[in-house]
Amino acid sequence: MLTAPTSYPRKVLLVFGTRPEAIKMAPLYLELSKHPDEIEVAVCLTAQHREMLDQVIRFFGIPARYDLNLMKPGQNLHNLTAAIIEGMKPVLEDFRPDYVFVHGDTTTSMAAALAAFYSGAKVGHVEAGLRTFNKQSPFPEEMNRSITGRIADIHFAPTQQSRENLLREDIAEQHIVVTGNTVIDALQHGLRLIEEAEPESVRLLKQQLPMHRDVILVTGHRRENFGEGFLSICRALKRIAEHADAEIVYPVHLNPNVQGPVYELLSDVSNIHLIDPQPYESFIWLMNKSRLIITDSGGVQEEAPSLGKPVLVMRDTTERPEAVSAGTVILVGTDENRIVKETLDLLYDTERYDRMARLHNPYGDGKATKRIAQFLLTNHKHEYVS
Ligand code: UD1
Ligand code: UDP
Repeated sequence: MLTAPTSYPRKVLLVFGTRPEAIKMAPLYLELSKHPDEIEVAVCLTAQHREMLDQVIRFFGIPARYDLNLMKPGQNLHNLTAAIIEGMKPVLEDFRPDYVFVHGDTTTSMAAALAAFYSGAKVGHVEAGLRTFNKQSPFPEEMNRSITGRIADIHFAPTQQSRENLLREDIAEQHIVVTGNTVIDALQHGLRLIEEAEPESVRLLKQQLPMHRDVILVTGHRRENFGEGFLSICRALKRIAEHADAEIVYPVHLNPNVQGPVYELLSDVSNIHLIDPQPYESFIWLMNKSRLIITDSGGVQEEAPSLGKPVLVMRDTTERPEAVSAGTVILVGTDENRIVKETLDLLYDTERYDRMARLHNPYGDGKATKRIAQFLLTNHKHEYVS
């Protein structure tokens, strides 16, 4: 358990660097900011991502007190890790946080947690306890989150299953709070905002895409799929485009290992639309409009069940088994024939489709950030029961 507060405000530094971390930390920043007498909260961006990160902080209106601006084209894990640890030192010396909060499983999360530990700050891990127990898959995320878990003082686990994973690793029960996943807080916030006023990026998409037809939404970026995995995925998408009466919409991740094969193999297919990574607001709009989603993304696996969209996951393992058990997510790996077969089956077998397209929320109820704030304010657990 955290030590009882001796003085307020508690200083909390949120550190993040990639698109998904920003989406899931933005609502936490907004929530913690509501308690200025008790919590002084600041954001440090590593900018492991640049454009894809900026899209998110612009939409949620998150001010960055610190920005390490580290992204380099085609960066490697070794340099990035070293640069984050080194870059965090002066930030930690300047802000002198009581707590550093990191999110999930990226290299930013792992390296920032280590830097915080070196500087004597307590570490809070948001989205703690997800595991595949296979250190090569997802690579390097499984190891990043295990290391972050060893360092963390307080673990905000999204589900009971993630809590149990931590208990199996001998993390003390009193250091774990089950909160639900902040991704659902972000999704609810985002859906509210786009309902209030149509974003410019949505208006542009409507002009650009034939949205009157069924849409299959695709995303992909996992390192373990680079090379043969991506070639196989692209061949599968080409075959699906030939046989399905649908439009495939694919916002292509900016990683050059993804851009290369995807643009080379799929540019000239008339019902495949390769578009830029979308701002969060138009991506959630697209998810809502789509018939089904094919992805290897972690965050999309969590959002889609909340929107009642079936998901085919192009991975062999997942650290998010809850939606698989509930039957709205199927793991299909990167085998070309399997992706084609499962997609076409799902498009044309209405009964099967209806069974999968069921609205449910295994990952949260939209109050995860409130529970984290309450824990900081009172030192008592206000837990999520799924
Ligand atoms: C990273 C995370 C991964 C997370 C993913 C979310 C690690 C090791 N990987 O993977 O866990 O699921 O983000 O998308 O932490 N790039 C740009 N602009 C951007 C973003 C990326 O040009 O805004 C390009 C750059 O060339 C960059 C490359 O993509 O060097 C790779 O970025 P990096 O963060 O290292 O890896 P991701 O594959 O994005
Ligand atoms: N997303 C987005 N624009 C896109 C594709 C995805 O805003 O063009 C959002 C999506 O809603 C989800 C998150 O990005 O919340 C997932 O990020 P990504 O797949 O890059 O990383 P992962 O979740 O696999 O770590």
